[in-house]
Amino acid sequence: MRVGILTGGGDCPGLNAVIRAIVRKGELVYGDELIGFHDAWDGVREQRYMPLDVSSLRGMLPRGGTLLGTRRGSPYDHADGPQQVRQAFADLGLDALVVIGGNGSLTVASKVHDDLGLPVIGVPKTIDNDVVGTDITFGFNTAVQIATDAIDRLHTTAESHDRVMVVEVMGRHSGWIATHAGIAGGATAILIPEQPFDIEAVCALLRRRHERGRYASIVVVAEGAEPVEGTMRARDRVYDQFGHVRLGGVAETIAHAIEERTGFETRMVLLGHIQRGGTPTAFDRVLSTRYGVAAIDAVHVGAWGSMVALRGGDVLTVPLHETVGKTRPVDMHLYHEVAEVFFG
Ligand code: F6P
Repeated sequence: MRVGILTGGGDCPGLNAVIRAIVRKGELVYGDELIGFHDAWDGVREQRYMPLDVSSLRGMLPRGGTLLGTRRGSPYDHADGPQQVRQAFADLGLDALVVIGGNGSLTVASKVHDDLGLPVIGVPKTIDNDVVGTDITFGFNTAVQIATDAIDRLHTTAESHDRVMVVEVMGRHSGWIATHAGIAGGATAILIPEQPFDIEAVCALLRRRHERGRYASIVVVAEGAEPVEGTMRARDRVYDQFGHVRLGGVAETIAHAIEERTGFETRMVLLGHIQRGGTPTAFDRVLSTRYGVAAIDAVHVGAWGSMVALRGGDVLTVPLHETVGKTRPVDMHLYHEVAEVFFG
């Protein structure tokens, strides 16, 4: 078969490992011919691609980013985009397209399958871990490890100066990274989009800690966290060209508010894209490899319109419909029954 691969949305550690696994099993086990589209759906529309084979993927397992390049956006943003995608399948003799992406790219993949009747398989990617239908997306484990390492380092400088550190991690709609890194890093408080925060309650935690002689604290905040209405000035919203809210900076507002209300010296750290860069953890390399193998297997059983997923330890396929238009929130049991036990 002739199989195309694209990587869409924000990059994420493990993308190259997925591509490598698809190519390895595709070429050596199934005798497939594989091509990789540059720059996500733009590469499909414009028929910009490169051949992929086992030798061209050497050394890519531990490499972050994506060798294909990635972009946000959809063929549906262009009047003739869907037709260009259909034409690319015909011109290139494509038998299947594997779409490695997060909520946005998987939604487009589902639409392309449903509306155009094209043979598409999805692979769930994002450091945010917010794709419905799978227990975990690849890249998340690496982001949590990077954030945890940063928090560990911040503890010692915070302790030396008796400071509060507000650490902002990614997570537009879901506080997965904040919750896991906050638990792993021993945070005093974790603020997530799923649970509006009361700044006065956060300050009360910090004051209580000080009364107990603990002068240094780490507050972990997800970039999408919002205050309870009326308790703190909300941020002005800025949107990118695809209508996604551009976040980043809530930690600064929170750090000011904490210092103003408590008088404790406070600093903020924005981890930003460091969380998406560099080599995947061993866990993500294994998960990405399993997803890649499962994706090419799904191609060969013709499981069109489905996505590979991890459920209870097994990798299987689930309908893309299950994930479209949804965001997977944090496990609130984990947040309330585990994380909160260590607040303060
Ligand atoms: O890919 C998801 C994500 O990392 C979000 O956590 C974050 O809000 C966003 O991407 C940042 O996007 P960009 O790279 O376009 O600034």
